[in-house]
Amino acid sequence: MKKDTFYITTPIYYPSGKLHIGHSYTTVAADTMARYKRMQGYDVMFLTGTDEHGQKIEDRAKEAGVTPKAFVDDIVSGIKDMWKLLNISYDKFIRTTDPEHVACVQKIFKQLYDQGDIYKGTYKGLYCTPCESFWTESQLKDGKCPDCGREVTAAEEEAYFLKLSKYADRLVEYYETHPDFIQPASRKNEMLNNFIKPGLEDLCVSRTSFSWGIPVTFDPGHVVYVWLDALSNYISALGYNSDDDSLYQKFWPADIHLVGKEIVRFHTIVWPIMLMALGLPLPEKVYGHGWLLLEGGKMSKSKGNVVDPVVLCQRYGVDAIRYYLLREIPFGSDGVFTNEALIGRINSDLANDLGNLVSRTAAMVGKYFGGVLPAERLAGDFDEDLITQAKAVKIALEEALDKLEFSTALTELFALISRANKYIDETAPWALAKDENNKARLGAVLYNLCETLRVAAVLIAPFLPETAGKIRETLGGDDSMYTWESAGDWGLLKAGMPIAKLPPIFPRIDVEKELAELEAINPAASAAHEAAAGKAEKEKPANVASLSQITIDDFAKVELRTAVITACEPVKKSKKLLKLTLDDGSGQPRTVASGISPWYKPEELVGHTIVLVANLKPAKLCGVESCGMILAADGPEDTVKVLFADGLPAGCAIH
Ligand code: MSP
Repeated sequence: MKKDTFYITTPIYYPSGKLHIGHSYTTVAADTMARYKRMQGYDVMFLTGTDEHGQKIEDRAKEAGVTPKAFVDDIVSGIKDMWKLLNISYDKFIRTTDPEHVACVQKIFKQLYDQGDIYKGTYKGLYCTPCESFWTESQLKDGKCPDCGREVTAAEEEAYFLKLSKYADRLVEYYETHPDFIQPASRKNEMLNNFIKPGLEDLCVSRTSFSWGIPVTFDPGHVVYVWLDALSNYISALGYNSDDDSLYQKFWPADIHLVGKEIVRFHTIVWPIMLMALGLPLPEKVYGHGWLLLEGGKMSKSKGNVVDPVVLCQRYGVDAIRYYLLREIPFGSDGVFTNEALIGRINSDLANDLGNLVSRTAAMVGKYFGGVLPAERLAGDFDEDLITQAKAVKIALEEALDKLEFSTALTELFALISRANKYIDETAPWALAKDENNKARLGAVLYNLCETLRVAAVLIAPFLPETAGKIRETLGGDDSMYTWESAGDWGLLKAGMPIAKLPPIFPRIDVEKELAELEAINPAASAAHEAAAGKAEKEKPANVASLSQITIDDFAKVELRTAVITACEPVKKSKKLLKLTLDDGSGQPRTVASGISPWYKPEELVGHTIVLVANLKPAKLCGVESCGMILAADGPEDTVKVLFADGLPAGCAIH
């Protein structure tokens, strides 16, 4: 039985565009688990990577005029940078274009074919010729192709199929005998009722309509279906089917596959059946987490919120983003992301509670004891309560983390932080400091606060590694004071240790000013996300793709009009905003603030005709009353291009 190893995976990401904050969700959660298990002494394998084949990637590469490999190489390097920024401590990054993975998948396909679990048949479906895609009746939108809205025709093509139906009974039995296999439990019922009970159909596992995939070795022209290719990454990354499968021997079966709820189906039906057919053990657990949504729609369609993790990390620090993702929404549920809620969390939990506790404690040791930790003394009022809570929090946090309840785990930890802040109010060190006779008591109070911070530094490390490091730097001490086990102990800091002062670890944010600035940078950010993520969405099942569609009536609500820029100047209080004066054909000048100054000089814009969103509610941006918005696109390499409509007079309606 495996005991001392821990293997955790994230889904492998489609490198078809820029990732948004929702994509970081699974990875930050997996990273927290990996760090937690490492601290507990497990030998951890944390795998993430990219899922690089398929028609959409082939199409996008063609549009960009590069080879599919060159296209994905570029995006993958951006994804790796992003994980670095977010402090993701993966042990291995797999790409499905890695030659070892390709060879492994080819062997799996051949073995399943040789033993009769994959067979050649005819794929019958409804075909959209321009999109080169097959659809089932239920995937159609109003009887038409869900991607492009055109007519579909009945068609057939030769293809390979995996015998899912043969394994359906074994799969159900496995669910029954392994009640923790699918988490949260509600997702198990969804699988049983929606997919398995109605009858599993054999799965088409090859394609001939495009070539950017892993070739079927024994039948040129066929490439392996992306999901069969992608799912195999969890074992190919460990060297399964290669000359050296020692990692496979050591780590398989996986302890946890963390996945978003929309891909639970592939991980709890297709993947277990593939493994059963290969005669391999099944993973211990598949956890399907909820989605981060935006009010009224999907993350990728962000209009009113900045969702680019890079921008958010630059503004608030990596740990603030990690904290928000793990704390705000219970892991199994959906939740709504807003910049306002993010800033609220930072201000209340991180700046007020944690940040204040650290800086107040360090400042008081500095002021009253010259920055040297006083000795622990006999217990006084309120001490026992604080110490008992500090020693107990480790167990409560472990119980929550073992169930992947990140939010509960952090709530437990922050209850200790609040308790310590209350302890400061109760013991009033500033009053004790007025009387030399209270020096010993004052020392004890400050010792207890520093010890509480030590416990917090240990327990917060899997979630917020940078913050843990900063608290540790303040307190000092050696590694033995910061082991996971030591969080259940009390009294490890030694009298006489220097306690360093530090700048606020989470400065308070001025909410109104910040929201105005975010709004100013948002047109560019949202254009980028629509361009990047909107296309990736199409690779999802139809029910997901349809979530944020709008009707023609919705679109008609947006009044687009041409306008001529008559004057332009920078907005003093902002690095990004330009103030544009527009002739919109109404006879009255109109002012619009736009976050395009990194890309345009004012004099380059005057005289051009642009496209104006004329009926946008006015908003004050850095002191400028902005009445409308101009359209801009996200160009290559992080540029922003205003959409000019030169040649048209001011005031033309755009439909
Ligand atoms: N390539 C497949 C996975 C293959 S695994 C063998 C895929 N890729 S993806 O890039 O579209 O999504 C990767 C992960 O990001 C999924 O788990 C998905 O649920 C997650 N998220 C994407 N948008 C999300 C939110 N808005 N919120 C939370 N997670 C979401 O699917």
